[in-house]
Amino acid sequence: MNPRTLSLRALLLLGLWHTGRRCAAQELQDQPKKIAVVGAGIGGTSAAFYLRQEFGPGVKIDVFEPGAVGGRLATVKIGDYEYETGGAVIHPLNLHMKHFIEKLGIPPRKEVPSKMAIFDGKELTFEESDWFIVNFLRMLWRFGFSFLRMHMWVESVLDKFMRIYQYQQYGYSFSSVDKLLHAMGGDGFLTLLNQTLEEAMMGQGFSQVFLNNIVTPITRVNYGQSVRINGLVGAVSLAGADPGLWAVDGGNKRVCSGLLYHSKSELVPARVTSISFKDRPSKTGTTTSFYEVNYVGESGSAHSLYDIVVIATPLHRGKSDITFSGFSPPIPSHYPGRYHQTVSTLVHGLLNTSYLGSAKPASEFTVSEILTTDSKDSVINSLSSLDPVHVPPGYKRPPASQSNVWKVFSPQPLSQEQLRSMFLSWDSVSETPWLAYPSYRPPQRNTPPFILHERLYYLNAVEWAASAMEMSAISARNVALLAHHRWHRQVGNVDQEDLHTRLRSEL
Ligand SMILES: Cc1cc2nc3c(=O)[nH]c(=O)nc-3n(C[C@H](O)[C@H](O)[C@H](O)COP(=O)(O)OP(=O)(O)OC[C@H]3O[C@@H](n4cnc5c(N)ncnc54)[C@H](O)[C@@H]3O)c2cc1C
Ligand SMILES: *[C@@H]1O[C@H](CO)[C@@H](O)[C@H](O)[C@H]1NC(C)=O
Ligand SMILES: *[C@@H]1O[C@H](CO)[C@@H](O)[C@H](O)[C@H]1NC(C)=O
Repeated sequence: MNPRTLSLRALLLLGLWHTGRRCAAQELQDQPKKIAVVGAGIGGTSAAFYLRQEFGPGVKIDVFEPGAVGGRLATVKIGDYEYETGGAVIHPLNLHMKHFIEKLGIPPRKEVPSKMAIFDGKELTFEESDWFIVNFLRMLWRFGFSFLRMHMWVESVLDKFMRIYQYQQYGYSFSSVDKLLHAMGGDGFLTLLNQTLEEAMMGQGFSQVFLNNIVTPITRVNYGQSVRINGLVGAVSLAGADPGLWAVDGGNKRVCSGLLYHSKSELVPARVTSISFKDRPSKTGTTTSFYEVNYVGESGSAHSLYDIVVIATPLHRGKSDITFSGFSPPIPSHYPGRYHQTVSTLVHGLLNTSYLGSAKPASEFTVSEILTTDSKDSVINSLSSLDPVHVPPGYKRPPASQSNVWKVFSPQPLSQEQLRSMFLSWDSVSETPWLAYPSYRPPQRNTPPFILHERLYYLNAVEWAASAMEMSAISARNVALLAHHRWHRQVGNVDQEDLHTRLRSEL
């Protein structure tokens, strides 16, 4: 045999072997094999969607959910139709939610015009007219230009808020809620988080009367709480009174099942009970670390190992009970603070319009959204006439003289007596007690972290800034980017300062 060919062949073989091994080693380090997402609400399912986008088709994504896909996005069936009981409306500038329905090919729900009124526990203190100019003049008469100024204030917060979409588009992520907020709105946003909406608006020169009569009813309907929620969630709440709000045809929860399907992740119908950090010796003699996810499903308990885990449920009493072991410093099962209860009661029946102090005949009562001021006479946070999640052709919202589906939000379940005073008669009552959103008590001492451990992330930390579908989606994309950059050690894409000015000069 020719020694030269031999050495050449050997070299070739060696070279091949070498590159082969490098490939294998790189792959091992390059891509995670398995990712777990805990919870299949809009947060968990959009996390699955963005994780797939970041890590590509090779990784296996498991989404754990013991209940219905959708979480706080849920519907109930009354007669032939379904109605939203949880998260209901989406702002026109919620770009992730908009992107999802476009991607999934789901249309928005057909719009039905609505009319708002404010109830002080005795009578309606304000009733919207069909005419914009009439409303405008009525408001101007009572509150001067406060309305316009409120709109401008919310707009200025929203303007800064919108920056997050550009950052995420460019692949930037943030390691904490504070850093994310700071990148959007600088110290101003952190100050908003630290003061009440009342303090923030008084500081802007709004009157107590305006706060009590206009702002409070809005925070009560959206967050079941007073103007003493933080200024940021307050601004989000006021944006929820903007025109152009929309919902998803067939129910908002459809987005969740759509994202699950689109992300090609596997739904594991089980409740996660504990997560432990484990070292495993590997073939090459080194050790590799994993997260062991323990869960209980219909067929008993089991566990699996994952490279990355995303928690997409609040770590709070009454919301989840997950124990963490093998971590130092330890990770608590529950973070400080609690979730606020909002009971959503759907009544199919005839409204007692006299309860609202209305002297009009019920056939002329066409108000669909009744907000309430904070008075000792108000046992409810809001009362609204509901349209089905799919609006059938030719649908018109019936006046109060006809039987209709009404949704009542209240802090406590309604007693029979309360139901009897609000409704003349009914044929069904469906009650959902939600632990709906954080009970906001600024100043916020410390917001829970996004990063619980090296490759363990917590999406719902963002709710302590503001809780909304879009907030969970923003957090999901942030956590997916963060997980990707940290896995690949791309530190340049995390916590960059001055992004706003830098990206503007790049354009
Ligand atoms: C009455 C009400 C009205 C609202 N109105 C609006 C609105 O109009 N607009 C808006 O944008 N937002 C609204 N919200 C807020 C919005 O619904 C939430 O911010 C959003 O749905 C939160 O989504 P999420 O996926 O982060 O959490 P969730 O939807 O709570 O999802 C968490 C999931 O995790 C699951 N889970 C819990 N523990 C475990 C475990 N151990 N293992 C596995 N899974 C677990 C739960 O079953 C749940 O499905 C409203 C909320 C309520 C309750
Ligand atoms: C918010 O308030 C807390 C407690 O009063 C304080 O520790 C923190 O520094 C404040 N943060 C900001 C950004 O003002
Ligand atoms: C309707 O409400 C009014 C005012 O609260 C109350 O006096 C009346 O009893 C209610 N009607 C019925 C039938 O309950």
